[in-house]
Amino acid sequence: CAALNTALVITNAIVAPDGYPLNSIVVNGQYPGPVLTAQKGERFQINVMNQLEDASMNKTTSIHWHGIKQLLSNEMDGAAMVTQCPIASGQSFLYDFTPDQSGSFWYHSHLGLQYCEGLRGSLIIYDPEDPHLGLYDVDDESTIINLMDWYHMNANEVGVGPADATLINGRGRYNNGPLVPLSVISVMPGRRYRMRLTNMACRPNYLFSIDNHNFTVIEADGHNTVPVVVDSIRILAGQRYSFILEANQPVDNYWILADPNLKPGFTSTGGLNSAILSYVGAPPSDPPTRKWTLTTPLLETNLHALEDSAAPGLPQSGGADLSLNLVNTFDSIHTKYLINGVTYTSPPTPVLLQILSGQLNASELQPQGSVFALPANKVIELSIPGGQPDGPHPFHLHGHSFSVVRSAGSTTYNYNNPVRRDTTSNGFYGWDNVTIRFVTDNPGPWFLHCHIDWHLEQGMAVVFAADAQDTAKALNIPPSWNNLCPIYNALAPTD
Ligand code: C2O
Ligand code: CU
Repeated sequence: CAALNTALVITNAIVAPDGYPLNSIVVNGQYPGPVLTAQKGERFQINVMNQLEDASMNKTTSIHWHGIKQLLSNEMDGAAMVTQCPIASGQSFLYDFTPDQSGSFWYHSHLGLQYCEGLRGSLIIYDPEDPHLGLYDVDDESTIINLMDWYHMNANEVGVGPADATLINGRGRYNNGPLVPLSVISVMPGRRYRMRLTNMACRPNYLFSIDNHNFTVIEADGHNTVPVVVDSIRILAGQRYSFILEANQPVDNYWILADPNLKPGFTSTGGLNSAILSYVGAPPSDPPTRKWTLTTPLLETNLHALEDSAAPGLPQSGGADLSLNLVNTFDSIHTKYLINGVTYTSPPTPVLLQILSGQLNASELQPQGSVFALPANKVIELSIPGGQPDGPHPFHLHGHSFSVVRSAGSTTYNYNNPVRRDTTSNGFYGWDNVTIRFVTDNPGPWFLHCHIDWHLEQGMAVVFAADAQDTAKALNIPPSWNNLCPIYNALAPTD
């Protein structure tokens, strides 16, 4: 089988995606990083070479392949201090894994707040047997739409205020800033496009829409869905959607708008939070002022998995092998989040190494109180109650996808044909419950955390140690293999 064999060279660079120069982190000299593409079943061999030299920022790194399950390859998950030590400056790490998945994914630094400073990019896996193929004419990387927040300061200086700019495919404008060119997505009249939308932001969710166009959602987080027609998508940090857009409007330019968080008004902003959908044949100019009114937003309850659609376990409340309730609270004095009373902090040794060296019980695994040992091959039902501050919190689970049996904002359960995905929220403004189900079919320690990067940094995370007993055997790591922490002094992490 073919392989995606490539190197990602991580360096510091000054970039100005909205016209404001900022010290940042780039991949192979690009911001955002290069789009990685592969065919379903291909092996990935990606050599990450850390050449970070700016001592004012974190010089270590670690890359996570968001949405890739890493079935029996937990050691390739890239979560710093969960599955590996950070890669030191001047060192490299070979990520080697073979996903049996297709769809829209992304990669980002999983160390501190580093992805907010630039280290993020798309990862697309094509399926030659995509069941939706007949619905669209073309499918290539030019139809990627990446949303991200951009701040005119270091990530650790960012407070709770809004981002300075929204970048769409790496371009954007800030208030009273220069009129730098926006991203243009060009379409041929009459053709149908699969577009892949990813929220790579560190904080905001966006209300995404395109003037005068409805579109058909066919994928959520790497899982095909039953097609559903909408005019807008609220997308949370970490989530991805594919939709089919038919270029069936008069030849012209149209605003693509990614409005951060809930706002009462929804008007064209003359380039803020925008990109341009441009029909071939239209003159190069800004689109006319938005008159498009949104009436049909995507609701998670209207999304249904196309394959393996039933949730695991018995179709009833309590029909799982194990139920967990994760209650999230905020300690405003220390500005820390707690889950079931505990703030997640990085352990001195990666959780995987602790497990490989024989610590198998939650009572001995660090960080104490944040690691939950889960039995193998069981159906886990996980509820995250509402009433939590600063929501919605987009919770992302590594190593698995899950069925959302009760979406935030819904009062009913759906065990029959819920959406399957890897990132969902406990509700807008934090007042709803969410309930998900997944099967512990993938041994190893896996993060579950809020994808708002400052919330993760402030402790809104737990680690599920699935099947700790069999992890060493399942991963088949030779005892002499010390790549996970080659030169790192685990007891005294310094940079
Ligand atoms: Cu997108 Cu734990 O990450
Ligand atoms: Cu959060």
